[in-house]
Amino acid sequence: MSKISIIGAGFVGATAAYVLAMKDLVDEVALVDILAKPTEGKALDIYEATGVFGLDVKVKGGDDYALIDGSDVVVITAGVPRKAGQSRDDVLAINAKIMKDVVAKVKKHTPDAVLLIVSNPLDAMTYLAAKESGYDKKKVIGMAGTLDTTRYKTFISEKASVSPRKIDAMVLGGHGDLMVPLSRHAFVEGKPLSKVLDAETITAIEERTKHGGAEIVKLLGNGSAYFAVGGAIYEVLHALLTDSDKPVPVSAWLTGQYGLQDIFLGVPCLLGKDGVEKVVELELADDELAALQHSGKSVKELTQELEKL
Ligand code: APR
Repeated sequence: MSKISIIGAGFVGATAAYVLAMKDLVDEVALVDILAKPTEGKALDIYEATGVFGLDVKVKGGDDYALIDGSDVVVITAGVPRKAGQSRDDVLAINAKIMKDVVAKVKKHTPDAVLLIVSNPLDAMTYLAAKESGYDKKKVIGMAGTLDTTRYKTFISEKASVSPRKIDAMVLGGHGDLMVPLSRHAFVEGKPLSKVLDAETITAIEERTKHGGAEIVKLLGNGSAYFAVGGAIYEVLHALLTDSDKPVPVSAWLTGQYGLQDIFLGVPCLLGKDGVEKVVELELADDELAALQHSGKSVKELTQELEKL
């Protein structure tokens, strides 16, 4: 039996629950939010959709944290999304308050679960969840790299006219403008990206990836992305539950890897049922390593802001 719970049943949480149920990864999905009835309604709606595809997934929702008992992973998406013109860092104070409230309740019900953090600013919220929960830091993970990477791969796929399935690429670093798309480690049908697209096109794709979230915020007018986010959450959960041997970019606790420590930052990790099994250290070129360390410095500064709240 496997069970995933999602705290925060807004656009991101409900979409993640829907993707999770439709992909038939687990036996049970629980959705919890401060809004009891709408959350119960969303869960029931998703549960009724399982009939279309003949899936044996139970989906429940409400405001009672007893619903999450027995979860393997608890995904936290509670928090306000940024608005047009705001950066993810602008919602630090309000989301920190929400994260503290949620983690205090989660740890009473699921002391052994892995926590997958989605609320922004992502790397700082992951740090806060680890601190407030007191869980082994390997069991606390932030989801952003799979989202940034799917954006990167989609834009490469569009320009190269090749299915995203045939593209290998990864985005590391903090979930913000300083994220690091690794073009030297990107391959299209096994060929280096630089042999498939010209330098100007690659730079344009990287810039679009870095500002991919802001592009959606501007178009939506009110709120931030959730469809690609729901899929990217699924990708991490799939790796966690299936002990995948393929490195997945997630925000993980660093203890010296890439010359960085005492922060959560996006790096490739091998994941398993107990969280991060190993941080994979890629051979980065000097400029890539410098960009990752620059991103890490900015995440550390934001994390230090938490102490002042
Ligand atoms: N406990 C539980 N749920 C809460 C709490 C709380 N203390 N505070 C807020 N929520 C719930 C809200 O009731 C709402 O249903 O969190 C949900 C947030 O949903 P949306 O406003 O739709 O925001 P969403 O787009 O889902 O984004 C949520 O994910 O990607 C990030 O930046 C995004 O931080 C934001 C988060």
